[in-house]
Amino acid sequence: MKGYKRVMAALSENVLTVSMLLCVFFLSGVQTACHSTHKGINITAPRHLDSLSGSCLLIPCSFTDDKTMKFDSRRKTFGIWIKTSIFIGAYPQNIVHNSSWSKSKYGINIIGSLSEKNCTTVFSHMIQSYRGKYFFRVESGPFRSIATCDPVHVKVKDSAWSPRIEISGDVKEKNSVTIMCSALTPCPQSPPGLSLNLQPNPHRQMQKNKDGTFTTTIQQNITLSEIHDGYNIICFARYPVAGGKHKTANAEVTLSVSYAPKNTSASISLTKGRWVELRCSSRAKPPVRVFTWFENTTTGAMKAGEGENYGVQVTEGKTYYCVATNDVGSQTSPEIRLIDPVIEIELSNQVLGRKGIESSKVQIPILTALGVMMLVCLFKIIIWFHKKRSETP
Ligand SMILES: *[C@@H]1O[C@H](CO)[C@@H](O)[C@H](O)[C@H]1NC(C)=O
Ligand SMILES: *[C@@H]1O[C@H](CO)[C@@H](O)[C@H](O)[C@H]1NC(C)=O
Ligand SMILES: *[C@@H]1O[C@H](CO)[C@@H](O)[C@H](O)[C@H]1NC(C)=O
Ligand SMILES: *[C@@H]1O[C@H](CO)[C@@H](O)[C@H](O)[C@H]1NC(C)=O
Ligand SMILES: *[C@@H]1O[C@H](CO)[C@@H](O)[C@H](O)[C@H]1NC(C)=O
Ligand SMILES: *[C@@H]1O[C@H](CO)[C@@H](O)[C@H](O)[C@H]1NC(C)=O
Repeated sequence: MKGYKRVMAALSENVLTVSMLLCVFFLSGVQTACHSTHKGINITAPRHLDSLSGSCLLIPCSFTDDKTMKFDSRRKTFGIWIKTSIFIGAYPQNIVHNSSWSKSKYGINIIGSLSEKNCTTVFSHMIQSYRGKYFFRVESGPFRSIATCDPVHVKVKDSAWSPRIEISGDVKEKNSVTIMCSALTPCPQSPPGLSLNLQPNPHRQMQKNKDGTFTTTIQQNITLSEIHDGYNIICFARYPVAGGKHKTANAEVTLSVSYAPKNTSASISLTKGRWVELRCSSRAKPPVRVFTWFENTTTGAMKAGEGENYGVQVTEGKTYYCVATNDVGSQTSPEIRLIDPVIEIELSNQVLGRKGIESSKVQIPILTALGVMMLVCLFKIIIWFHKKRSETP
């Protein structure tokens, strides 16, 4: 009779649990509605967790007391995980872990201290069939309660997650920006290795998120210059998995660096008699906002006009230069000197080059004279030969 009563008690408890679980099953998603009628424990754990097959999974978890029955941490306490994705029969069949077991199904280990209401759990080696919905139950003497309102949904992926690249700071030349790459770390016991195609071996850090899960990050500071524009930053993530193997994934971001005008130069684009049109060219990002023309006189520079092209009547020896300006900065071109009637482009810093040209101009008449003299000599020699030949009988 006593045994029968015990069986009935156990049965009714199980039936209660089953109905609660079924209730949760059909009401899933209606979290607040569930909590308002639920009297058992609540757990604080992420609702959804992604894991990588071949790697471990940490479930950060803590639980609260029951409303009616006080949890007594001095008693022997058991933590139990119940899986419901295969919920078909009676409730005990779905127990995938009981902290009293020496060897766990599913390689589950509750690493948190249950007496401190810490139900943090690790699955040592995820495989596809472990995906599903898990409920936590705590048993401590007469205190038995399932966190029916707080299931943990576990997904198992076969391939690694792409890391995330973030760039903080103003992406323009001469600025130092921080490039950070971060990767999900469901298994903090063997976090992913991360690297960037910038400098080798940046310092790796593991951060704890608000919900207790982890993120692995690396970061590097670079001082930008125009050469970084269009550069592809790649972050490589390497997750260790069972058997000494790795699963990898990359992320790529193209840098778009803004820079002040470069290679600014003034040139003649058109001549019509004494009328010339000057053009200012420059490479800039964002594009040049304004081109300003200056005439350089002995008393100083004078603003002459604005615009990419600038037309002017040639006046002997006048020099001009342009300044290209965008949102980042500006750059001044070398000077251009207009010479009448021949227009000669002369860069202010090429004085030496001009001297070279002048000296070669001087050499031309000398060479010509030398050539003529040699020809005359040759002619005389030929005549002399002829004479000698005709003299000999
Ligand atoms: C469980 O959570 C609900 C909603 O947040 C709250 O009303 C209830 O008091 C909690 N129960 C326990 C035992 O902490
Ligand atoms: C968990 O194990 C303990 C100790 O063996 C046992 O008393 C308890 O009934 C078990 N709980 C479940 C739900 O199997
Ligand atoms: C729970 O236990 C885990 C594993 O020992 C620990 O890392 C975590 O900080 C604990 N959580 C709380 C809230 O104490
Ligand atoms: C990068 O720059 C930030 C902000 O200036 C600084 O806090 C951080 O320590 C630097 N990191 C490295 C790796 O130099
Ligand atoms: C443009 O300017 C850069 C320096 O800013 C220089 O290295 C490069 O040679 C220049 N290119 C041309 C075509 O002048
Ligand atoms: C203007 O002329 C002066 C004197 O000849 C020279 O020093 C200066 O570099 C010139 N300015 C530019 C922008 O070329």
